[in-house]
Amino acid sequence: MKKAIKKAVFPVAGMGTRFLPATKANPKEMLPVVDKPLIQYAVEEALAAGIEVLVFITGRSKRAISDHFDKAYELENELELRGKTETLKIVQNIVPPHVTCVHIRQAEALGLGHAVGRAKAVIGDEPFAVILADDLIDDDAKGCLNQMVQVYNEWQCSVLGVERIDPSETESYGIVRSNSIGNSIGRVEEIVEKPKPDKAPSNLAVVGRYILTPAIFDKLDQVTRGAGGEIQLTDAIAMLLKEQAVLSYEFHGKRYDCGSKLGYLIATVEQGLKHEELRDEFKAYLQGLILD
Ligand code: G1P
Repeated sequence: MKKAIKKAVFPVAGMGTRFLPATKANPKEMLPVVDKPLIQYAVEEALAAGIEVLVFITGRSKRAISDHFDKAYELENELELRGKTETLKIVQNIVPPHVTCVHIRQAEALGLGHAVGRAKAVIGDEPFAVILADDLIDDDAKGCLNQMVQVYNEWQCSVLGVERIDPSETESYGIVRSNSIGNSIGRVEEIVEKPKPDKAPSNLAVVGRYILTPAIFDKLDQVTRGAGGEIQLTDAIAMLLKEQAVLSYEFHGKRYDCGSKLGYLIATVEQGLKHEELRDEFKAYLQGLILD
């Protein structure tokens, strides 16, 4: 029987060392791009793809994320008293009523594979999505995950969101070799975590979007520490693809690598230029800056 993708896992336990000191007491996923934290962009993309259960794999000093998706009584009261109905709506509508949030604490930060493995009890025997909030993807339509859900619905197997990168950057990504089966879709033959450019099987990089079948959990139980001494999701996928089809999908849209300072700044500028309230003034400001 076909099972729909209704659950998404958000691994958010990472330390965010690249953004210190901004991330000393604040989770990196709470860094705002214009007026929304990164994790909210990720959650909105999941909701647009029909996700109904949001599973956050959190760690120490990540309370701000649980609070962000919870009801904020004092704030809502205050906004209501001041008659700020529009702002009140924004605060109240972050998570629609039919959606459930589950928070799981990852006691030790042993890597992405370890984090995803913590979700096993909540996911059960269903296919599910994984979204890494560091990768903000804007497609002007219903989002990257929604595109991937369509691919899953057609093929009924795991799907990895991928993008061509500069060959010099392979050490920052999981890299796949896949055989094209048309329409931006390929069958993955090989996947390697962060290979050196001369060892990389291609320049097709996995971005932070996955749809996985529940068989991944058995593989996650078996993988040992890999690249960087961490339990890697990539290594579990490498085991999975020996038994089941795994597809790569070159999504439509623009990805911002908000795990890097430059990518984060670019996202801020470009999203600022798209922001309804700000775009005209911001554009004029930037033009002035360039002409000076
Ligand atoms: C993780 C994955 C990697 C993937 C990347 C996408 O790496 O391990 O395979 O390509 O996310 O952003 P990280 O960026 O957490 O080091």
